[in-house]
Amino acid sequence: MSVFNLNVNGQQHQVDVDPSTPLLWVLRDNLKLVGTKYGCGIAQCGACTIHLDGIAMRSCQLPISTVGNRKVTTIEGLSENADHPVQKAWLEHDVPQCGYCQSGQIMSAVALLNSNPNPTDEQIDGAMDGNLCRCGTYTRIKKAIKTAAANS
Ligand code: FES
Ligand code: FES
Repeated sequence: MSVFNLNVNGQQHQVDVDPSTPLLWVLRDNLKLVGTKYGCGIAQCGACTIHLDGIAMRSCQLPISTVGNRKVTTIEGLSENADHPVQKAWLEHDVPQCGYCQSGQIMSAVALLNSNPNPTDEQIDGAMDGNLCRCGTYTRIKKAIKTAAANS
């Protein structure tokens, strides 16, 4: 076990875990931030997407020892009252079905719009390609990203 200092959603945390522990499990088990989901565990589905210094990353394959001083943002840290423009667009288009993949979808969409405020259809497809949805909400996700882009 080793002690790690983490900045998560603007707050400092200290955790004592095995250095190989994926960030996903530190977030969920140690910090009780369970909005970030476990899907595949092998960086293939996007359910566990968080931001590291604003960049979308898969937390299931990210050892805690590699996080360092980078700022971690989870779905819980995106806004105070679920009123981030992307979250509002998700509500407007009633995007989720079962909801399991949606925090990862939103985190990827926010990272996309932060780097590219007016993405084309192709750019949206490219950025969201690694986020799978078993319920097939892809059409609504794309509409919501366009609405968020227009409203930002
Ligand atoms: S759980 Fe991390 S990509 Fe699937
Ligand atoms: S809403 Fe069910 S997996 Fe995406």
